[in-house]
Amino acid sequence: MKKDQYILGIETSCDETAASVVKNGTEIVSNVVASQIESQKRFGGVVPEIASRHHVEQITIVIEEALKQAELQPNDLDAVAVTEGPGLVGALLIGINAAKAFAFAHQLPLVGVHHIAGHIYANQLMQQMEFPLLALIVSGGHTELVLMKEHGSFELIGETRDDAAGEAYDKVARVLNLPYPGGPEIDRLAAESEATIDFPRAWLEADSYDFSFSGLKSAVINYKHNREQKNEYIDAGEVAASFQESVVDVLTTKTRKAAKEFDVKQVIAAGGVAANKQLRNSLTASFNELNIPFYVPPIALCTDNAAMIAAAGSSMFTYGVRGSLDMNGRPGMELKSWNK
Ligand code: KG4
Ligand code: ZN
Repeated sequence: MKKDQYILGIETSCDETAASVVKNGTEIVSNVVASQIESQKRFGGVVPEIASRHHVEQITIVIEEALKQAELQPNDLDAVAVTEGPGLVGALLIGINAAKAFAFAHQLPLVGVHHIAGHIYANQLMQQMEFPLLALIVSGGHTELVLMKEHGSFELIGETRDDAAGEAYDKVARVLNLPYPGGPEIDRLAAESEATIDFPRAWLEADSYDFSFSGLKSAVINYKHNREQKNEYIDAGEVAASFQESVVDVLTTKTRKAAKEFDVKQVIAAGGVAANKQLRNSLTASFNELNIPFYVPPIALCTDNAAMIAAAGSSMFTYGVRGSLDMNGRPGMELKSWNK
């Protein structure tokens, strides 16, 4: 009988300190996330030094808790997978150093995972991935369309030329004086309001799968300034709904076009913005109509977590990828295929 594989995942690239144990790359055994959102709210965003300090305070507790909830000892594990990049370098280093120390102390192999590969592999915790597969990654730092022809193979077919989708949500939320992080706030407000304002959509060149959200953000800022100058009332709900309508329209249209062009068997969404209700509904309806299976993980697996890092780490480990004890945080790390 084949022995089960247990991977400990560790994630500290931004403002969540997370550890998780995943069995055979597909089954969550434990999933612990310590969020710093409450503390970062005071500053209206993530302050890198504060993020690092929180990670230092939390990391040991979170790893111990993940093992305790999994009812496993370190020697039951097959490997330690940790986010190597991209992210805040100081924050990444806390997770990496904890992973290295743990791996060294317990003589375990180490695997360095790309954060976006993690977001994509969150889907593997829900259902089998079928190839060719198209992944829409929308988070605070990324907006990308990635084509996967098999496990561990990634072709970037489109990306943002300026702001990431989540960044646009957070910036527009600030303009509307909403608390950090702005995505869930805009999501909630938009659901109660009408999209009455005609904000622009950046389609870019006809054959491009790239995105741009900075023009939309500027349009929202200009709208607000104009109304303020004329002493006119600003309905935050209408602004939120209209902004979101533009983002969802562009994301859905481009993803749909790419899915058809590359004749994919499955479309998945990943990253914090994939928690957005209107985006989930719009993509679901669109791919229902095209008869292409579409999946998006539950919200807790869309936002940053370590189960997704363990899931991607499991595939890498199976392909023989190994990190070394001189691993460093790589803030600008590129998503590379690991299956060749
Ligand atoms: O993936 P994630 O947790 O961290 C990064 O890797 O960046 O994504 C965080 C981003 C933030 O910009 C946040 O505002 C956005 O995801 N977000 C949302 C929603 N929930 C989180 N955006 C829109 N609607 C949501 N419900
Ligand atoms: Zn993320």
